[in-house]
Amino acid sequence: MDEVVASAPGKVVLFGEHAVVYGHPAIAASIAQRTTVTLRTTEEPGVHIGRARVDFERHPHLATMIAHLWDETASPGLDLSVTSDVPRGAGLGSSAAFAVASAVALRAAGGRAVDAGTGAWLEGYASDGSEVALFHGGHDVRRNAEVGERRFGQDALSLEEASLLGHVAEAMSQDGRASPMDTLTSAYGGLVLLSNRLEREDAWIMRRTMPMGDAVRSWELHRLEGLHFEEGLSLVVGHTGINAPTTNMVAGVAARRTEETGIDETMDTIGALVHRGMEALLAGDAEGVGRAMTENHLLLRRLGVSHPALETLVSAALPTSLGAKLTGAGGGGCMIALTQDPKATSEAIELAGGRTWITSFGTPGARLEACPKGGLINPK
Ligand code: MEV
Repeated sequence: MDEVVASAPGKVVLFGEHAVVYGHPAIAASIAQRTTVTLRTTEEPGVHIGRARVDFERHPHLATMIAHLWDETASPGLDLSVTSDVPRGAGLGSSAAFAVASAVALRAAGGRAVDAGTGAWLEGYASDGSEVALFHGGHDVRRNAEVGERRFGQDALSLEEASLLGHVAEAMSQDGRASPMDTLTSAYGGLVLLSNRLEREDAWIMRRTMPMGDAVRSWELHRLEGLHFEEGLSLVVGHTGINAPTTNMVAGVAARRTEETGIDETMDTIGALVHRGMEALLAGDAEGVGRAMTENHLLLRRLGVSHPALETLVSAALPTSLGAKLTGAGGGGCMIALTQDPKATSEAIELAGGRTWITSFGTPGARLEACPKGGLINPK
């Protein structure tokens, strides 16, 4: 049976979570754990999970993707299934990975080609005998199948689109407050840097702007490539086992900004610290990176997003690591430690009650794993 399969990774935040929502800089890295979305056609129009039509209350991310990428009224419909080893509610970007993987899968299912002449995207695909109809900007560009170079697959994948739609989906489900960090990292993979300024022209991807309440936030998005660290440097992720929804944690910080003094100043300090962390990363200074991570943790504690279980795991990791901090939204979820002795650090975290994974920096971003030529619109 024809199917479209797409996958995208989770992430950890090295520096700058929460403050990044308010336009401050942050650095995140993709991890080995991934979410995979599979689409198969069904006769009934619409998108289904199991046999039931998608419940948009339960799956707000899918509501955004389907509205942009799939005609719910047309036949065939789709059956969507998900497998994931990114734990939910753990601050590891599970919802972003799901949003990005479904954006890639739905777009590929709908059909996408690159125009051989202009290099422009041509959206929509239908095949009738030898003719191929490609719809571009509402125009039906009919061409002979022999002439039109049709390419579906990895090279027809737009990471920019997947990260943008993923960001919109995250914002819709987080009361309008979401940075592009998680979805950018999941789409592009590797190490990504968001900043309030252009940091390095050779690493810059694009500017992202989003209205948030009465302010317009904007981020300069970069990829950090070619970092050099000595052999054996690892990140250990420690899970408290406590589930803490990002939406609640982000809303808590928003409330404290209006109720308490010093929250905005703490975010400014985090912003400066991220620049220091970035310099250390670019210089291959592992000790400097670790120190900045631990300082970031103390500032996150001041934002009110730590949790006693996170404090226990961070304290357990510090004696054998270069630095440790909570990662993601906090309130439970996970912490990370940068270490040259991953075995000792992971054992210390486990002894303190955490579940651990050892990961390296920079795993691949979103991928289209399988797609029949022509997507799923006309499955013959
Ligand atoms: C969650 O992984 C990261 C936060 O900064 C929220 C966001 O960036 O949208 C807490």
